[in-house]
Amino acid sequence: MRQALLATAALLLLSAAACHTAPEVVTTPTEASVQQPLHHITAAECGACHEEIYREWQGSMHAQANPLKDPIHGAMYRRMVGDPTQEGVTQGGGPPHCPACHVVAAALDGTSKLDAEPVYLDGVTCTTCHTLTGRTAGVESRGVHSYTCSTDRLQGPRFSGSGAARFPMERRGAWLASPEFCLGCHGHHTNKKGVAVCRTGDEVRDGGGAAPCQACHMAVRDGHADHSMLGGHSEAMVARATTVEVEARRAGGGVEARVVLRSRVAHAFPTGAPFRMGVLEVVGLDTAGREVWRSCPGKGRGPDGHLMVRLTDDAGRPVPPPRATRTAADNRLTPGEVREITYRMPPTVARVRARLLYRLLPPAMATKLGDRLPAELARPKLVAEAESAVE
Ligand code: HEC
Ligand code: HEC
Ligand code: HEC
Ligand code: HEC
Ligand code: HEC
Repeated sequence: MRQALLATAALLLLSAAACHTAPEVVTTPTEASVQQPLHHITAAECGACHEEIYREWQGSMHAQANPLKDPIHGAMYRRMVGDPTQEGVTQGGGPPHCPACHVVAAALDGTSKLDAEPVYLDGVTCTTCHTLTGRTAGVESRGVHSYTCSTDRLQGPRFSGSGAARFPMERRGAWLASPEFCLGCHGHHTNKKGVAVCRTGDEVRDGGGAAPCQACHMAVRDGHADHSMLGGHSEAMVARATTVEVEARRAGGGVEARVVLRSRVAHAFPTGAPFRMGVLEVVGLDTAGREVWRSCPGKGRGPDGHLMVRLTDDAGRPVPPPRATRTAADNRLTPGEVREITYRMPPTVARVRARLLYRLLPPAMATKLGDRLPAELARPKLVAEAESAVE
């Protein structure tokens, strides 16, 4: 075992690129710590001492990243790749590529049986992140293959160098606080046809890259960096993304309503998986509060209020991300964008209400997944709303 580990370490060193950053503080590995590979240590074992961080992580999507735990990922994995409980499953002639980001320990072990070790069910676990030491060159995010990793020391941001930690440690504060740390999995990821299916990193760079990811997603709470890493699955986080304002006035024999969306995020809204969508619903009410008008772009009532990426095949038909050959449109809000959208309504309208909703996946896709999708994942979340009387 020890020899195998040393061989892996040597290989990793050989493949390590120039962006490997130097550690600030180091402790020496102990004999006990090399009994089992670091990447096989479960979050529960770390949680014995780091209780609060463990609890936060348990509620995060990182802890659900194994297809056997996340119903959306699970349904898609089974359709596109195969049975996550079987050995020898291949994708395009090689090992499935999803585990490089979703179940890193299994990717390192080269297995497609994603329940073979308890740590695999952890998905993106403590040791997945806390063994990363730097980025290899290249823009494409290939998960663990985009990083240099340590096989014998954990990486910490503020580690004091005392002997109290259970495992050998290195301190790399600047690296752990940098956006690059997240972007080997969250940066720029294309499907086999070269179509981008996730561009969070590009979006932040193009937007000027003001705050690092950790500033919003790992703010310090109760004295430590919050590991809940909330995103689209959290009502509270989604509600921080964008504000909505509405102004309505009489014009040209009808009512003209101006809706303003202001992005407050560093990446696109929505970001991440290409099937996330924002939906702007605009409604006109009469003096009695009855709905007399509702935006419905398909039927020619108002501009398209969907904020999303549209992936299609060559014939322009909507297809799932892995089969897409084109990005037909992308009208998500860019970082910091202020977007004005004008709606025209009949003169009976006395009040206008605008609501921006967020969906993890489009209703048609939710219907296809049927019972496999828990109802709360299919329900839209409220981002922001505003209402105004017609002046
Ligand atoms: C027996 C208790 C114990 C266990 C188990 C344990 N740790 Fe720790 N860990 C500590 C202590 C104590 C420190 C503080 C050391 C210091 O800063 O001087 C620490 C420090 C750290 C730090 C550095 C914090 C910083 O501010 O830089 C990280 C990261 C960390 N542990 C991660 C882990 C991970 C991941 C695991 C599981 C693989 C784990 N720990 C298991 C006790 C433990
Ligand atoms: C997705 C990657 C990721 C995962 C998973 C993760 N961490 Fe961290 N952790 C980080 C980063 C990044 C920081 C540094 C944040 C900062 O300094 O802004 C950090 C900080 C820490 C710290 C220092 C906290 C502080 O503020 O002093 C400890 C201890 C720690 N992690 C332990 C754990 C344990 C235990 C687990 C599993 C239950 C875990 N981490 C899972 C990325 C991760
Ligand atoms: C080893 C790869 C990896 C690294 C490193 C990583 N993530 Fe993730 N992250 C994932 C995967 C995979 C998912 C999706 C899990 C799922 O939904 O199945 C995810 C999901 C998320 C989500 C979405 C949560 C939601 O509610 O949908 C946020 C936010 C996030 N990560 C933030 C971060 C931040 C911030 C960092 C850097 C500190 C980071 N991640 C580092 C792989 C990674
Ligand atoms: C200014 C604050 C801010 C910064 C900086 C920021 N985010 Fe976010 N992020 C948010 C908010 C708010 C949401 C929830 C709305 C949404 O899903 O777009 C979010 C959502 C996400 C999601 C969830 C997408 C989903 O589909 O569930 C991921 C993944 C993510 N961010 C990753 C990152 C990464 C990686 C970085 C750094 C490159 C980053 N974020 C920087 C505020 C921020
Ligand atoms: C380069 C890293 C990477 C690879 C490879 C990858 N993913 Fe992901 N995946 C992510 C990240 C990061 C997120 C989180 C983005 C977000 O929350 O929107 C994610 C999110 C998802 C989600 C959304 C989960 C949810 O709860 O809504 C699904 C589904 C998914 N991935 C499926 C797959 C499948 C299937 C594969 C393999 C064919 C795969 N991914 C390969 C990084 C990756």
